[in-house]
Amino acid sequence: MTSLTFTHTPGTPRSAAEREQLLENPGFGNVFTDHMVSISWTKQDGWHNAEVLPYGPIPMDPASSVLHYAQEIFEGLKAYRRADGTIVTFRPRANAARLNTSAVRLALPEIPEELFVSAINELVSVDRDWVPSGDDQSLYLRPFMIADESFLGVRAAERARFMVIASPAGAYFTGGVRPVSIWLSEDFARAGRGGTGAAKCGGNYAASLSPQQEAAENGCQQVLFTDSATTDTIDELGGMNLFLVKGNDTLVTPQLNGNILDGITRRSLIQLAKDRGFTVEEREVTVSEWREGVANGTITEAFACGTAAVITPIGQLKAKDFSIDFGDAAPGEVTMSLREELTGIQFGTREDPHNWLEVIVKAEA
Ligand code: PLP
Ligand code: COI
Repeated sequence: MTSLTFTHTPGTPRSAAEREQLLENPGFGNVFTDHMVSISWTKQDGWHNAEVLPYGPIPMDPASSVLHYAQEIFEGLKAYRRADGTIVTFRPRANAARLNTSAVRLALPEIPEELFVSAINELVSVDRDWVPSGDDQSLYLRPFMIADESFLGVRAAERARFMVIASPAGAYFTGGVRPVSIWLSEDFARAGRGGTGAAKCGGNYAASLSPQQEAAENGCQQVLFTDSATTDTIDELGGMNLFLVKGNDTLVTPQLNGNILDGITRRSLIQLAKDRGFTVEEREVTVSEWREGVANGTITEAFACGTAAVITPIGQLKAKDFSIDFGDAAPGEVTMSLREELTGIQFGTREDPHNWLEVIVKAEA
């Protein structure tokens, strides 16, 4: 079953001129490539019908479970074009594993790792011309799974569909790599004990949208969630993990507590920091500690990290009654050097000591 053969339905790809124009300044999540992948699943037949199709709308019965009960999960990873033309993806197997962890929590079927990786490779290969080559640009890949059984009873669906779409992308935050302001959500939580906080499911993001609006109204680009019992113990941002930097050699980040996403960027940075001989503290982290640490000079930097955000320096945490400001200290040195190291590995200007990259398209000799 892991060796499903993909059928290819050719569409009418956009012209090279149109593509070049779209790739000039794609932003994040606005532009989509010419194709998409779809693989069907039923309880009876398992995974079948693996297809590469022209990108476009998908037929959906209005009674499909995903439309009513949000039985949906997704992933995010990137393909990078290197100077020599090689195209690579970063840790796709970690995304496959995490999708399957989310699948178990959302009562969706697990997908074999090889099938997940083949789906990514098929799409990137057919749409290779859409992998941009500008500074800090990449092809953002969005695998997702939806329950599409037509049934209104509340139970795990017996029919699902796995798809991959691809979107050439630049920086997630407009304005490139500059410090962002973060809003502390005091009235809304994202996750609670036993909930879906550790899964990458659409419902978590739906719940983050009104706090995100509150953040925007307060001039902030992202929202910081604490655990549901306090407004002090930090979980993560709406779409990113959070790190504080102490001195020049210590990273502090909330431990995987069942409520936050096990970020692949987070995991990679923990490894790179340890390789440098840094101390990495994965533990409970509070806003009070952050506030006191900045006041007494022990906390020197903060950053957000994720596939879309890469590493984004945080300049300020704003709350209803106070703010924590790094002022001219942001972006900090540790933040920017970790960013340089991680992106160097991804774009091939640095060694890849942990074999995180998988080559999809080889450089032409
Ligand atoms: N936390 C949330 C809620 C996210 O949506 C993301 C993005 O995927 C992350 C953290 C970072 O995860 P990763 O580094 O795997 O992209
Ligand atoms: C990602 O980084 O892949 C995400 O899913 C986060 C979202 C803010 C786009």
